[in-house]
Amino acid sequence: MTYTGLDRKSYEEAVAATRDRRMQWWREARFGLFIHYGLYSVLGRHEWAMAVGNYPVELYEQLVDGFRPAPDCAKRWAELARKAGMKYAVLTSRHHEGFSLWDSEANPWNSVRCGPGRDIVGEFVAACRAEGLGVGLYSSLMDWHHPDAGRAAYDREARLRFQDYIRALNRELVTQYGIDVLWYDVAQPMEHWEGWDSLSLNQMVRDLKPDIILNNRSRLDEDFGTPEERVTAEAAGRDWEACMTFNGLSWGYLDVAQTANYAYNGQGILRMLNTAAHGAGNLLLNIGPPADGSVPQDALAPLEAVGRWLARHGEAAYGLVDRCDVRRCSGIAGTSRRGRTLYLWCWVWPDDGTLRIGGFRTAVRGVRLLGSDVKPGFEQDQYAITITDLPSENPDPELGVGVIAVEFEEEPAYIFASRYPQLHGGQVYPDWR
Ligand code: GLC
Repeated sequence: MTYTGLDRKSYEEAVAATRDRRMQWWREARFGLFIHYGLYSVLGRHEWAMAVGNYPVELYEQLVDGFRPAPDCAKRWAELARKAGMKYAVLTSRHHEGFSLWDSEANPWNSVRCGPGRDIVGEFVAACRAEGLGVGLYSSLMDWHHPDAGRAAYDREARLRFQDYIRALNRELVTQYGIDVLWYDVAQPMEHWEGWDSLSLNQMVRDLKPDIILNNRSRLDEDFGTPEERVTAEAAGRDWEACMTFNGLSWGYLDVAQTANYAYNGQGILRMLNTAAHGAGNLLLNIGPPADGSVPQDALAPLEAVGRWLARHGEAAYGLVDRCDVRRCSGIAGTSRRGRTLYLWCWVWPDDGTLRIGGFRTAVRGVRLLGSDVKPGFEQDQYAITITDLPSENPDPELGVGVIAVEFEEEPAYIFASRYPQLHGGQVYPDWR
C-alpha cells in the first residue's frame, strides 16, 4: 500500500482499513506516560514561557547552558512508566520552542550539537524498548525559533520552506527511531490541513512506517482524538486519548514544592483511568521533569501506588473493552465493561457486606472480587441485584478502590432504574430512559 498520491477520501479509507490491526496494542494499553522536557524545563515557568514571557530568540537560546539531563534520566522515565502500569510513553522530541532533542540535520539547534551533547530521543526510545513499552514522540508543528514559522501565515515562500522543515523533522523521527506513535501538536499558524499540506506529510509518514499511529492534531482526523485536560469519550466509534497534566497547571516543569497541593493522588488517577476504561479510550498522564530530567517528586508515589493497584485489578482497566453504557448503577462505583462482565470500581467500600445495583434485566451468572480470594454471593429480583458476603474490610488497603466483577449470562441490558419502581411494578420499561 502506498499512501502518497491518494486523494483525501481514498487516503482516509485506506488508513481506516488498517486501523483495528495497527491500534489493537494501543487500545489494549489504556494508560501511557507523557513527558514534557525541553529548555523551558530550565526556567520552570511553564512550557509556553518563551511566548508568554516574550523572550527574544537570542536570550532564550542561553537556557541551553542550564539544560543538563542526568545520565540516566530517560531510564528513570521508562522505569516509572512500567512501575505505574503504563504501557507506552510519549516524549516531546521538540516543543514549540523549536529545540530538538535529537541530532537533527534539519534543525542544528539541538541537544547533541548544543548544550548536553546528548541524543535524548535516542536514549528515551532505547529505555522504553528495554522496559517493553510502546514509544511515541510528540512533534510540535508550531515553532517559535524557526525564522519562517511566523511569516508562513502570509508569505507563500516562507510557508513552503517551513513545510519542508516540518516534513524533514518528522521524516527523521520516523526513519531514525522506529516509533509507534507520532503525536503532533498545535498546527499553527496555518489554520487548516491544506495550509499545512498535512495530507502529503502524513502520507509520507505512513509510507515510511505503515503501522504508525497518528493523532488528530495535524488538522486531519487520523487515528485518535486528543481531549486535553478533560477525560471525555470522543464521538462513538472514534478512538480517543485524554492527555492530562499532573497538576492542572503546566505540561512543563513547575517547582514541585509549590505544586504538591495541585498534583493528583492515586485515587484521582484511578478516577481518570476509570473514565478512560468506561469510554474505551486512553489516558496519557504527563510529568514535566526539571532541567536535570529527574522524575518530579509529586508524581512518583501516586504513580507507583497506581501501578500496584493495576497489578491486582488490571483486568478492569486493560485490554479491549466495550464502551460502558452503565452509569450510577450503584451510586458508589465507577464502571467499565468487557462483553458480559461489568466491573464496579468502588470509590467507597460497602462495609456492611452488601451492594445493591439496579437497572439490569439480564441474569447474573456470578460475582468476583478482583485481587482477592473472597467469593461474594448475590441475589437478583425484578428490581435489583444485591451482591452479598463482601468483606467488611476494604480489599484494597492502599488506595481503597476495590473492584467487583459481575458476570452476566450475556451482555447486560441496562436501563437507569426508575426512581418510582412501584409505578412500574418493578419492571423497567424496555424503552424507558
Ligand atoms: C497544548 C499546549 C502544549 C502542550 C500540549 C499537550 O497544545 O499548548 O504546550 O504540549 O497541549 O497536549
